[in-house]
Amino acid sequence: MSIHVKNNIHWVGQRDWEVRDFHGTEYKTHKGTSYNSYLIREGKNVLIDTVDHKFSREFVQNLAAEIDLASIDYVVINHAEEDHAGALTELMARIPGTPIYCTHNAIDSITGHHHHPEWNFQPVKTGDSLDIGNGKQLVFIETPMLHWPDSMMTYMTEDAVLFSNDAFGQHYCDEHLFNDEVDQTELMEQCQRYYANILTPFSPLVTAKIKEVLGFNLPVSMVATSHGIVWREDPTQIILKYLEWADHYQEDRITLFYDSMSNNTRMMADAIAQGIHEVDPGVAVKIYNVARHDKNEILTQVFRSKGILVGSSTMNNVMMPKVAGMLEEITGLRFRNKRASAFGSYGWTGGAVDRIQTRLMDAGFDISLSLKAKWRPDGSALALCREHGRQLARQWALHPLEAPRPITTTQAAVTPAPVIAKAPQAAPAAAEWDDDQPMLCTVCQWVYDPALGEPDQLVAPGTPWAQVPDSFLCPGCGIGKEVFEPCAVEACV
Ligand code: FEO
Repeated sequence: MSIHVKNNIHWVGQRDWEVRDFHGTEYKTHKGTSYNSYLIREGKNVLIDTVDHKFSREFVQNLAAEIDLASIDYVVINHAEEDHAGALTELMARIPGTPIYCTHNAIDSITGHHHHPEWNFQPVKTGDSLDIGNGKQLVFIETPMLHWPDSMMTYMTEDAVLFSNDAFGQHYCDEHLFNDEVDQTELMEQCQRYYANILTPFSPLVTAKIKEVLGFNLPVSMVATSHGIVWREDPTQIILKYLEWADHYQEDRITLFYDSMSNNTRMMADAIAQGIHEVDPGVAVKIYNVARHDKNEILTQVFRSKGILVGSSTMNNVMMPKVAGMLEEITGLRFRNKRASAFGSYGWTGGAVDRIQTRLMDAGFDISLSLKAKWRPDGSALALCREHGRQLARQWALHPLEAPRPITTTQAAVTPAPVIAKAPQAAPAAAEWDDDQPMLCTVCQWVYDPALGEPDQLVAPGTPWAQVPDSFLCPGCGIGKEVFEPCAVEACV
């Protein structure tokens, strides 16, 4: 089955209503997904991307019903991950010599997955073009780390269609193909979930790449993604959304998540949330038990929040494992411009809260006071939790709040539970950097060590970062200097 997209472009992809897991089991696809492949029939016949490997046979069968496979002149693979290039083995068995246009990095990953180094790969770079007849061309735009090193987009001139691959997509399955035909709330929820869980670490690059593409001044009539819908109506809306989300995004929202052995930490969460709401009724407050809720939804809420509170009971003197897992994810997603604080109840020792606080600090959050409660919080301890919530609400407020109420006699008599505090580590101002300050690529974590330089780019050992030329590209991911930040020496070794 094919769907007409525009002029001589047809969708020849595959819908997947039942998929529930992506990237192993790390991304839950409650709305299914689609694998969008496009067939262009101009002077030349071009296939853009394939589908997930589990649909290989159906895909090739359907494609053969649409076009004589031998008449396909070119295959374009924008990204080598198996949900897009997965049907290549089945397809290329039928058309073995057909040129495959992809990035240089994609050759490595396609060959690594399919083990056919003899395929007719044609590596392309940004700005390269392919004449497809009828006065139209395909122009290639490398998008490394959006979200793999091999990713690229393909722009079709005249029709002004941008085949964007993963970027601007969603894991969303619907019988309708176009954005103006589906439920708008569902659509934007899935777009934001996709961005928050997959693209957040690459936000600096998202901004740089979109500005680069906009700088070409190309008209865009459609954005044809590789997952979910095709943006036909106001296609630039999703591009503008990405720019907004990539720019240290936050809403007036606070998210609390925790795990609780005996309900005590949950009681603390409830009381803290009450205190926040009491002082700032306008702020959205969301609470989740990580053991019982969809992890990707919690991470999306973190993405939307100005601040988070992370709670755990102390178990074996450390935090509960599901909280630790969430903190590992949050560290990898590299959220910025957010505040955080830890809380939790304990019995013999309170190691969990200390560890959470340290992990939050290492993950780049601006840290506020943490809060511990010994055993089950009683009325006094819960009053302290509410007061803690009030303090954080004032501290994290995005707008002026009413003056705090006077402390009541009951609250004043409460014996505070043990409270720990750690000051956030301030990054040194640029002027204070030493010449031997190492620099961290925030996209791929490669570290520039001034002592070593980067001889492959003619940067001699001993060159401080300030003297590294602006043309420098990260050897790890190929991105420029703009995504580098100073990193602590101990974090870089
Ligand atoms: Fe949709 Fe990166 O694969």
